[in-house]
Amino acid sequence: MKRRKLGKFGPEVSAIGYGAMVLVQGMYGPVEDRQSVRTIQHVIDSGITMIDTADAYGGGHNEQLIGEAVKGRRDNVVLATKFGIVFDPAHPSTQLQTNWNVLPVNGKPDYVRHAIDGSLKRMDVDYIDLWYAHFPDPSTPIEETVSAMAEAVKAGKVKYLGLSNVTAEQLRRAHAVHPISAVQYEYSLWSRDAENELLPTARELGIGFVPWAPLGSGFLTGQVTNVEKDDFRSNLPRYQQENLQANYDRFEPFRSLAQQLNITPAQLALAWLLHQGDDIVPIPGSRNPAHIDSNAAAAEISLTKEQLQQIDSLIPGGLAVGESLL
Ligand SMILES: NC(=O)c1ccc[n+]([C@@H]2O[C@H](COP(=O)([O-])OP(=O)(O)OC[C@H]3O[C@@H](n4cnc5c(N)ncnc54)[C@H](OP(=O)(O)O)[C@@H]3O)[C@@H](O)[C@H]2O)c1
Repeated sequence: MKRRKLGKFGPEVSAIGYGAMVLVQGMYGPVEDRQSVRTIQHVIDSGITMIDTADAYGGGHNEQLIGEAVKGRRDNVVLATKFGIVFDPAHPSTQLQTNWNVLPVNGKPDYVRHAIDGSLKRMDVDYIDLWYAHFPDPSTPIEETVSAMAEAVKAGKVKYLGLSNVTAEQLRRAHAVHPISAVQYEYSLWSRDAENELLPTARELGIGFVPWAPLGSGFLTGQVTNVEKDDFRSNLPRYQQENLQANYDRFEPFRSLAQQLNITPAQLALAWLLHQGDDIVPIPGSRNPAHIDSNAAAAEISLTKEQLQQIDSLIPGGLAVGESLL
C-alpha cells in the first residue's frame, strides 16, 4: 500500500485508512464482536495502517474492539480516535444541530482531560496517535478545547492533534494554539462543500485532510437502492426513498465510467479523492474483507487528467438531491 504523510505535522500512514464506525451494532446492520475483531485484523493484514474510531461509537465499545484487535501489533497501527460527543448524563453538553440529528457536545477543558483517559483505558494503550475533537462545542471557544488537548500531547498520552467538522476559521484559530495534524470532514463525489474553504485552508496551513464517509455512506458503491428502517441512513435526507432513487439515476454516468475503466464505483470514488491532493487520506468503512481489499487496491489506481475532467463534468458538485450529513 502506498503511503502518505498526513500534512506537514502528522504521521506517515497508508494512502487509504479504515473507518470503524461501520462496526457499531445496528448502524449499518447487525455485527458480531468476534467477527468485528477479525475484520479489524484483516484491515491491518491488507496494509492499511490508520484505523479511525471515536469514543461515541457504540458508547466506547468500538474503541474496545479496536484495542483488542491491535494487541501485539500496536506499533504497526496509527490509532485515531475522537472525543466530544457526550452521551453520559453525568457530563453537561450543548446541543448541536446537524442535518442528521441533534448531538450533545462538550469541548470544555475539564471534559477534554476526562475524555483522553477513557479512550486510553478502553483501547488499553499507552498513547493515541491522532486525537480529534469530534465536533466543535458551540459554547466553548476552540482555543480552550485545543489548549486542553495540547496538555495530553505534553503528557505523552497523544502524539498528534486533529479536528473534525470544524469551519476554516475554527481550524485557523486552533492551529495558532497548537499544530493541528489532520482535519476530518465529510468529503466525497457527492459532498464537495469542503472544497470551498476548509480544504484550501488546511492546505495553506499544511494540515492533512481525512475525508469521512468517502463512499457517501455506501451510496457511491452503486449497490444501495434502499435502506432498512433501523439502518442509520434511513434518517439521512439523501437516503429518503424518493431522493435515493433520484440520486441513483443522477449518478448513473459515474457507475458507467467505473465500468468503462474496469474498476468498481467504490474504487473510482476513492481514487478520485486520492487524486484531489497528496494530503488526502480517505477512511472508508466496511464489514466485508473482500470490500476492504478492493478499497485498499484503489490506492494503486491512476486516473488521467482527462478522466478527472470527465468526472467533474459528469458529476459536478451539487448533483446530489437532499442535504449532506452536516
Ligand atoms: N468525523 C465524523 O463526524 C464522522 C462521521 C461519519 C463517519 N466518520 C468516519 O468515516 C468512516 C467512514 O464512513 P462510513 O463508514 O460511515 O461511510 P463510507 O465509508 O462512505 O461507506 C460505508 C458503507 O460502504 C459499504 N462499502 C464499503 N466498501 C465497499 C465496497 N468496496 N463495495 C461495496 N460496498 C462497500 C459498506 O458496506 P460493507 O460493510 O458491506 O462493505 C458500508 O455500508 C467511519 O467509519 C468513521 O470512522 C466520521
